[in-house]
Amino acid sequence: MRLAVVILAAGQGMRMKSKLPKVLHPLAGEPMVKYVLEAATPLQPERLVLVIGDGATQVRQALGEDLLYVEQPHQLGTGHALLQTRDVLENEAETVLALYGDTPLITPALLRRLLRRHQEAQATITMLTCRLQDPTGYGRVLRDEAGRVLGVVEEVAATAAQKRIQEVNSGMYCFDAAWLWPHLGRIERNEKGEYYLTDLIAMAIAEGERVEAMEVEDATEVMGVNNRAQWAEAEAAMQARIRQEWMMAGVTLIDPSSTWMDRGVQFSLDVTIYPNTFLQGRTTIGCDCVIGPNAIVRDSVIGERCRILASVIEEATLEDDVDVGPFSHLRPGAHLAKGVHVGNFAEIKKSYVGEGSKMGHFSYLGDTTVGREVNIGAGAVTCNYDGERKHPTVIEDGVFIGSDTMLVAPVRVGAGARIGAGSVVTRDIPPGSLAYGVPARVRRKEREAGDG
Ligand code: UD1
Ligand code: CA
Repeated sequence: MRLAVVILAAGQGMRMKSKLPKVLHPLAGEPMVKYVLEAATPLQPERLVLVIGDGATQVRQALGEDLLYVEQPHQLGTGHALLQTRDVLENEAETVLALYGDTPLITPALLRRLLRRHQEAQATITMLTCRLQDPTGYGRVLRDEAGRVLGVVEEVAATAAQKRIQEVNSGMYCFDAAWLWPHLGRIERNEKGEYYLTDLIAMAIAEGERVEAMEVEDATEVMGVNNRAQWAEAEAAMQARIRQEWMMAGVTLIDPSSTWMDRGVQFSLDVTIYPNTFLQGRTTIGCDCVIGPNAIVRDSVIGERCRILASVIEEATLEDDVDVGPFSHLRPGAHLAKGVHVGNFAEIKKSYVGEGSKMGHFSYLGDTTVGREVNIGAGAVTCNYDGERKHPTVIEDGVFIGSDTMLVAPVRVGAGARIGAGSVVTRDIPPGSLAYGVPARVRRKEREAGDG
């Protein structure tokens, strides 16, 4: 059977009340339509088409140019949307699977079951339905006394009695292509000025065609996202899935419900995550790390046995055995080598800190290269910005920076040098020397240094 999949993603998503096209609203860090795409891809369809319209350029950008897009110039309803694909698909497949871009929790397994059912029944249409406690907003499935499907009525057109029906249309259907294409153009425009794809059900029944309705037990899989309340439900369901996967893969979540993870996050074994922790973007966490409580880690690479407590880490790299926090901020380009200790109220941006170096209290490093075994005293600051440009600071191996030192960049402190507390360093300090004062002067040269 040659299969074509169509994902309808052109709608404005008015109920989201957003500038962002609805299907791009992220769940676990990825646009929701991407999940629909990923659920359909394993079916290996002959053709996979996305119907786009509202925010088309943004949608293309988010999903990439390798996909087949068809534009729906005006959003005249789901029937009209599918009709736009007729020219590209008409002779390409026997079966058309139509999906909506706003049902991100759909799984490949469920889609496979739907296809199998469709084939076995040799149906003209096979639709997925679901029973909901609160069916508000969904199209209701109408059946006769014998339980045979009669059609779908949308919320706006439903009578009070029909609104009480709990079986809803999930918005995923298999169609016999030979029947679909000629009938799609016959859907009539309704009072709202739209062409409803769901009208095909009644049309098929009227013609005596076989219509199958496959009811799914797990309502989360077919959940539609139309507004922010449904978005929050969908996000919670997506998070629950991701947490479950990682717990099964050897990650300890002390409080799963307050651990939020994007889909691009990867963990090694025996990681422990404390509550209220957010792991975002393409973050990877090495073995035996302990993260949180109250941590945010985004787009960062964390080595083994690291400890991150109540801190914010963005686009940073931590090698093994690094500890950070509480209350520190690593910004893009921070790279901490093995065994680095960063205590509280530190900020590090675009800087490398060498193996075993320590920075315990209230410090700022920007555009700085720090060697090995350096001690950065409390309150030390690199003054990297002169109001116009950023300048680099280099602190070589084994340097001791006294408390409250200002390093006015560009400046270099040579290996093994010591800077006294409260200094303002405006010139390079030679290796092995002792300097202090405002501005800092070299008080003992290299050969004398260490004389006692
Ligand atoms: C639709 C179904 C409803 C079902 C529900 C399931 C229709 C008429 N109604 O209602 O029976 O219970 O989904 O979630 O189909 N779209 C376009 N172009 C358009 C309009 C919509 O591409 O002109 C896309 C949207 O981007 C969206 C999908 O089609 O991804 C569904 O549209 P939406 O407006 O959300 O339909 P619902 O009102 O949820
Ligand atoms: Ca919807």
